[in-house]
Amino acid sequence: MNSQERLTVAVLMGGKSGEREVSLNTGGQVAQALAAMGHEVVPIDTRENSFIGQLVDAAPDVAFICLHGRLGEDGTVQGLLELLGMAYVGSGVLASALAMDKVMSKHFFAHAGLPTPDYVHLRADDRIDIGTITAALGEKTVVKPANEGSALGVTIAHEPSELDAAIAEAFRFDDDILIERFIAGVEVTVGVIGNDELTVLPTLEIVPEHEFYDYESKYVPGMSRHIIPARVSAEAAAECQRVAVEAHRTLGCRGMSRADTIVDDEGTVWLLETNTIPGMTTTSLLPDAARATGIEFSELCERLVRHALEGR
Ligand SMILES: Nc1ncnc2c1ncn2[C@@H]1O[C@H](COP(=O)(O)OP(=O)(O)O)[C@@H](O)[C@H]1O
Ligand SMILES: [Mg+2]
Repeated sequence: MNSQERLTVAVLMGGKSGEREVSLNTGGQVAQALAAMGHEVVPIDTRENSFIGQLVDAAPDVAFICLHGRLGEDGTVQGLLELLGMAYVGSGVLASALAMDKVMSKHFFAHAGLPTPDYVHLRADDRIDIGTITAALGEKTVVKPANEGSALGVTIAHEPSELDAAIAEAFRFDDDILIERFIAGVEVTVGVIGNDELTVLPTLEIVPEHEFYDYESKYVPGMSRHIIPARVSAEAAAECQRVAVEAHRTLGCRGMSRADTIVDDEGTVWLLETNTIPGMTTTSLLPDAARATGIEFSELCERLVRHALEGR
């Protein structure tokens, strides 16, 4: 395909997940960038099911899914696009679903030998024994819904007495939750771009104003800083990048992904999760890391569209 070719790109955004606002932001900026690259952009809000008709009518060459969280990042919209025979940016049904589910992805990470914090998985009706959880994970833990993003429902339990409330909070978001060992260290995120041939972006250190990288730190300007490259040893940085690429391959991701890791005081790299549709505003983590290697935001969006069309 000629890289100058003008394409019709449907930008799917909004939707009904807890990350609707974030998605509208991502979608708006991606749409603007693709229009600036000369493409015909059709923005589509997926909140109402009528979006399917809009999508069919638009008959795009490719769909750019700017939906985070459930009903967008989790394989559902990808399945719809498969049914419609439309090319789309990013991972397919299985990889999207696996990456969205933090418990399922841990099974795959463990199988690939990728270090991920110890955890306890709880389902809605499980009996909760705080003593057993603390014995397995230590006093300080992180409680999170299995299928969410943007740190929604995530709480740090500093001591066992805080676990009950943290667990109840996570269950508000999902019937499946996990409690993880708290890892103290430097938070490093690494973007990966491509299908078979992968480009790994530089390490990006996240320094939140709050205790951890919560919703506000992620989306309110000035509530977190990005430092590129991360202030970790060269060995640890290389390991973060290796882990990000391996996670991308292990889950079977396509197009792009972003791995969240923590480098502890010993230099061990712990993999928290892989995001298949990371934030894509001009100031988001992955675009910021891409810019540090000379890939401007519009060029990044263009590349992702080209990867979506590879092999079709
Ligand atoms: N095991 C952990 N130890 C320390 N901090 C954690 C741990 N798990 C999560 N966090 C903090 O919570 C944030 C959100 O967790 P994460 O697993 O990336 O979920 P998501 O980004 O999908 O909500 C992380 O960016 C980090 O700041
Ligand atoms: Mg994360």
